[in-house]
Amino acid sequence: MACIISKSNLCVKSLKKIHGLRLIQSQFQRQSTLSVQERIDEKRKKALLGGGQHRLDAQHKKGKLSSRERIELLLDPGTFIEYDMFVEQRCTDFGMDADSNKFPGDSVVTGHGLIHGRQAFIFSQDFSVFGGSLSSAHAQKICKVMDQAMLVGAPVIGLNDSGGARIQEGVESLAGYADIFQRNVMASGVIPQISMVMGPCAGGAVYSPALTDFTFMVKDTSYLFITGPDVVKSVTNEEVTQEELGGAKTHTTVSGVAHKAFENDVEALLQLRELYSFLPLSNSDSSPIIKTNDPSNRLCPVLDDLVPLDSTKAYDMLEVITALSDNNHFWEVMPNYAKNIVIGFGRMDGQTVGFVGNQPKVASGCLDINSSVKAARFVRFCDAFNIPLVTLVDVPGFLPGTAQEYGGIIRHGAKLLYAFAEATVPKITVITRKAYGGAYDVMSSKHLRGDLNYAWPAAEVAVMGAKGAVQIIFRGKEDQEEREAEYIEKFANPFPAAIRGYVDDIIEPRMTRSLICRDLKLLASKKQENPKKKHANIPL
Ligand code: HXC
Repeated sequence: MACIISKSNLCVKSLKKIHGLRLIQSQFQRQSTLSVQERIDEKRKKALLGGGQHRLDAQHKKGKLSSRERIELLLDPGTFIEYDMFVEQRCTDFGMDADSNKFPGDSVVTGHGLIHGRQAFIFSQDFSVFGGSLSSAHAQKICKVMDQAMLVGAPVIGLNDSGGARIQEGVESLAGYADIFQRNVMASGVIPQISMVMGPCAGGAVYSPALTDFTFMVKDTSYLFITGPDVVKSVTNEEVTQEELGGAKTHTTVSGVAHKAFENDVEALLQLRELYSFLPLSNSDSSPIIKTNDPSNRLCPVLDDLVPLDSTKAYDMLEVITALSDNNHFWEVMPNYAKNIVIGFGRMDGQTVGFVGNQPKVASGCLDINSSVKAARFVRFCDAFNIPLVTLVDVPGFLPGTAQEYGGIIRHGAKLLYAFAEATVPKITVITRKAYGGAYDVMSSKHLRGDLNYAWPAAEVAVMGAKGAVQIIFRGKEDQEEREAEYIEKFANPFPAAIRGYVDDIIEPRMTRSLICRDLKLLASKKQENPKKKHANIPL
């Protein structure tokens, strides 16, 4: 452009000399402006087509939307503002400098727009251009939106669909990844970062999604792995498909790398909009209040009979959470991983809360390695982004056994303990039934600065269950059954905790929603700070 302008200036000067006519000067200027405009239009048109219609068709044939269609669906209509549509890859090796290898915008579409009227920054990798692979230009574009998101304080959403590092660019591409990783880390805890994996995501590319707060996947079309099936075969001799190695099912049920899987692109993007409505824009913002016609003092009689009298029988903690939430709506996170704990977002009197609940239906609600890590990360997200925590406790303790001990349950269980202990957001805890042993302490107890701690009448707060306790303290003694009954009478009820003020009140289950809504109002002005430090040292 600069070159065109300076060339025009030269020509205009000579024309002036010959004819001395202003008219000719202005005619010439209009002509050259027009040709620039034509080039602009042409490039914009080309950018909209990504790698070409045939590649977009191929994308559709795989059941995937194009990068631009995804943005359209995610953002409020007509709100997308695009950046860097004219950026092109600058590689000169392997014939990459040929015109046919230049695609305006390269392999990612970036910019910002609105979701439910609220700002969001976005990048959407374009698989139709070199398989969405990451060139240095592609990385620069992503870094630009990440930097701006940090400046204005708004989330970054990445729609990942990429063959990884642009192979032709070598180390430049690796540098581009590291530039993004560094920004992911700096943005962590400042603005929410969300990754939606909608295609391949391989090699080191997986680490950007892993650094973000939420990683979601689309079933059958997305996968995440460090090395693909061919490398796995050559190194370990294992035969495994892409889907088995890093598909949505693997990562949402086995590895815990991804937080949720969706049926297709459309569902994924609509659900992302839904999640967005629960979140604040940054750590200095609060979550949007969504007005509800569900009364904050609504009674929940269904909860009165939910906990079975027989304390060995299970019930569904999801029923408790949905009963408490506005309009019974709960957006569960990681629903298929470590199901012995339930985490997710709901609203109470219009305000977003993070629910954490032991799930008696799965492994009796025991805490183990996976459930501790799952909940710890969620608690830390809520704490970083000013989202109050409502914790529902029915936990018989930590899961015993060599598998857990060898796997490091001590270290991993400590993560959840740490997360609750450092959290300074409003913390409300309800013991619905069992709260045994170390798990009682861990689950947002009074001792970890729980603000309001309640017990239902069925609560049992003790070091361990009656049978185990009697076997230890009355080993070899007669009348085991009588002694068990005595232990139950003494400890398997809420009074020992209530007498000491470790629970603030014993409440009727039906009153729970009403009391929590009232407490959230009270705690809205809560201010608590941890000691100043460079950073803490969570047991990783
Ligand atoms: C350049 C790439 C590319 C890449 C794909 N393409 N990946 N170009 N760099 N990494 C191009 C292909 O040449 C092809 O171009 C087009 O994108 C579509 O690719 P296909 O192979 O035809 O598509 P498909 O069959 O769907 O397979 C997709 C794929 C496969 C599974 C992603 O392309 C693939 O395995 N790519 C390489 C993956 C990889 O090893 N990446 C490097 C990982 S290491 P044409 O012109 O034919 O349409 C890494 C290090 C990062 O990323 C480290 C960071 C710290």
